[in-house]
Amino acid sequence: MESLLNRFQVICTVFDLPRVVSDLQGSKNLKYVGGDMFEAVPPADVILHKWTLHDWSDEDCVKILKQCKHAITSKGQQKVGKVIIIDIVRGSQNGEESNETQLLWDLEMMVTVTGLERNEMEWAKLFFDAGFISYKIHNHMYSLKSMELINEESASELLQAQTHVWNHIFNFINSMTLKCAVQLGIPDVIQEHGKPMTLSELVSVLPIHPSKAQYVHRLMRILVHSGFFSQQNLNQEAYSLTQSARLLLKDNPWSMRPLLLLELDPVLTKSWDCLSTWFQNDEATAFSVAHENTFWEYAGQDGRLNNLFNEAMASDSILASKLVVSKCKGIFEGVSSLVDVGGGLGTMAKGIAEAFPHMDCTVFDLPHVVSDLQGCKNLKYVGGDMFQAVPPAEAILLKGQKKAGKVIIIDMVRENLNGDEGSIETQLFFDLQMMVEASGVERNEKEWHIHYT
Ligand SMILES: C[S@@+](CC[C@H](N)C(=O)[O-])C[C@H]1O[C@@H](n2cnc3c(N)ncnc32)[C@H](O)[C@@H]1O
Repeated sequence: MESLLNRFQVICTVFDLPRVVSDLQGSKNLKYVGGDMFEAVPPADVILHKWTLHDWSDEDCVKILKQCKHAITSKGQQKVGKVIIIDIVRGSQNGEESNETQLLWDLEMMVTVTGLERNEMEWAKLFFDAGFISYKIHNHMYSLKSMELINEESASELLQAQTHVWNHIFNFINSMTLKCAVQLGIPDVIQEHGKPMTLSELVSVLPIHPSKAQYVHRLMRILVHSGFFSQQNLNQEAYSLTQSARLLLKDNPWSMRPLLLLELDPVLTKSWDCLSTWFQNDEATAFSVAHENTFWEYAGQDGRLNNLFNEAMASDSILASKLVVSKCKGIFEGVSSLVDVGGGLGTMAKGIAEAFPHMDCTVFDLPHVVSDLQGCKNLKYVGGDMFQAVPPAEAILLKGQKKAGKVIIIDMVRENLNGDEGSIETQLFFDLQMMVEASGVERNEKEWHIHYT
């Protein structure tokens, strides 16, 4: 507002809730007024709304705009003042990144207030419902060039950088909307439907409160954007699963659902809130800053987290055991006994025990993990601490362990040359996840070499 004052000789009023403006001091031609915009707006030639209307539902926006209409200057019967709105117009900007920004803001508005980001048609409806007879949309209201602040080239770089920052601020919305879809069973419901499912069909079977039916399309819109559902336009929009959504089905043998529910559980995400504190103290992990226990101690005391973690590990091992048994058969030839150290629920060892019925397989893990598990023919469970002793065997398997006959290690090799952009990012994410939750690290080949020689 003060920048407006310096540029134009106008009398400006900042109007906000009393608690926001009560302590603020005005100046020559600037004053602060406290009040409620649903009751009345101070009269003026121009009423400015920057980033306010997107906080409110359509019904509330119409009420606010009616107050604005009432407040702007009239000449006789005719209103000559105007309302200037600085806000997002969904679909108005080109570019993958700014489309994403608009969708992310939309969800942020849905979750924190009752607002939304509108496209031009939705804005127009508000204006007409509030009694305005015309409107004009100017793109690039942020045009810094026209304000002679910076040149055109750096203005567009600045806008791109701003979009990039926004998308990083809101990246958690991508994770959290996916978690919500999985918790509501959306992938499973669409799969069971057997053909593309319309929005009304989806809404009718989801376990949601009737008052929330109107919001489902916004959840689906971001998940279509992030590649989990594809959208066809039959008579109305209809959704199908992409390959990624199939990996989140409950009964997919390769399901990544348990891992998603683990990693996005508040117990784990709380550690991320403690990351900067951890950098400033001598705790071993951000997890222990958050929970005053190591991850392993916490899982030993909290049955819910223990189950969540063991199931997440087991789901990853189904695919890994199939791959190892089929592609790396030679490694196990001639081996008569094997211990899977930190073997969790034993999914990996079960796969190996089935493929090699003459091999004695032991799953070795912490007592709270294996105490209730039953072995079978050539598979047994042993509880203990690998820092004290590991049961003897011809082959020791370490899968998903960050510490180290034959030792077989199934783990990530960072910076391996087969990586595309996506998998390099995955490796970096995993590395940070290990640092935050368990004082581990993802290693490149050189680091593995140093570790084991
Ligand atoms: C990252 S998980 C890997 C589980 C399994 N190998 C897999 O890949 O699915 C690490 C495992 O090590 C176990 N673990 C942690 N500390 C241990 C210890 N001191 N002794 C034995 N097992 C331990 C955990 O309970 C957990 O099952």
